[in-house]
Amino acid sequence: MTDIDTLRDTLLARIQTLETPHDILKASEFKALYSVIPTLDPAERGAYGKRINQLKTELEAAASARQEALEDSSVMPLDITAPWQLNSTAPLLLPTEQGTQHPLTRELEEVIDIFTRMGFDAHESRQIDDDWNMFGALNFPEGHPARDGYDTFRTEEGYIPPAHTSTMQNRVLKAGKAKLESGGQIASISYGRVFRNEDVDATHEHTFYQCEGVFVSDDATLGQMLGTLRAFFEEYYGQKLKIKTQPGYFPFVEPGLEFAIEKPAALGGKPGDWLEMLGCGMIHPNVLRAADIDPDKYRGFAWGGGVERLVMLKYGIEDLRHFESGKLTFLRKFL
Ligand code: PHE
Repeated sequence: MTDIDTLRDTLLARIQTLETPHDILKASEFKALYSVIPTLDPAERGAYGKRINQLKTELEAAASARQEALEDSSVMPLDITAPWQLNSTAPLLLPTEQGTQHPLTRELEEVIDIFTRMGFDAHESRQIDDDWNMFGALNFPEGHPARDGYDTFRTEEGYIPPAHTSTMQNRVLKAGKAKLESGGQIASISYGRVFRNEDVDATHEHTFYQCEGVFVSDDATLGQMLGTLRAFFEEYYGQKLKIKTQPGYFPFVEPGLEFAIEKPAALGGKPGDWLEMLGCGMIHPNVLRAADIDPDKYRGFAWGGGVERLVMLKYGIEDLRHFESGKLTFLRKFL
């Protein structure tokens, strides 16, 4: 009988390897059990025969279960990630071992790293906001024409997918007020996706990334701002750079500036190739007031600009649309 028990385990295990599991009943070891019967003492034959029949029933049940499982797995599972062009010979999916961060995520991490090493804290910006943070707190009066310059999307309820990371300024200022009043400074960057209702071309996207900086202390100056921005750009591009500014209008800074760098020779630039990188300026007193910070006691500067622009210059990328395209030929260049 112990022989039968051992054989039972072997046969049950073997069923799991068979493509036609009912063949188990034809296994020679199983058949051999029957040929033993005539050799047994007649008194034992009944019990032995019963035991074989039990085993047979058990094997049949296991074989049926296996058969059913095989049929289930031969049905094509629904794969919602399957490539669209089924007949293409190109490898459409990246081998997982070569998976990588999106180039923008990687570069954004580099940007955050540089600013945090300078002593800034960093926050991701919101992706849905309201009129107050988009305009009101930033000194855009109701009905002011400068509001139109931001090609802002709005939901039916009146919410706004932010058109710039400046929507974070009021929150950053309010959150930092106590620090300021206890003798500290506000030094913060906000980064994230922004959205504009624009016609898309090689230099315009409806969805892109910005990084915003806010610094407030009791004696912040424009010179400190230019020094901070120069330090950032030289660290990011790994070389000395020429910088210049020209007046720019943003209701939330006064004076407002556009900040440009000369395209370095190493990145294909010629002297006099100026690239505007961001908007910046001294924070407008009304913006400080909107966060309940006294503009007679504290001063600050702010800047904000697109992340794609930084990355395009660094890698010689000619078309902004590549970033959101999901094209693997583009993404693979950053493996
Ligand atoms: N938010 C502005 C833009 O997107 C840039 C800016 C930020 C300008 C901060 C001045 C200060 O155009």
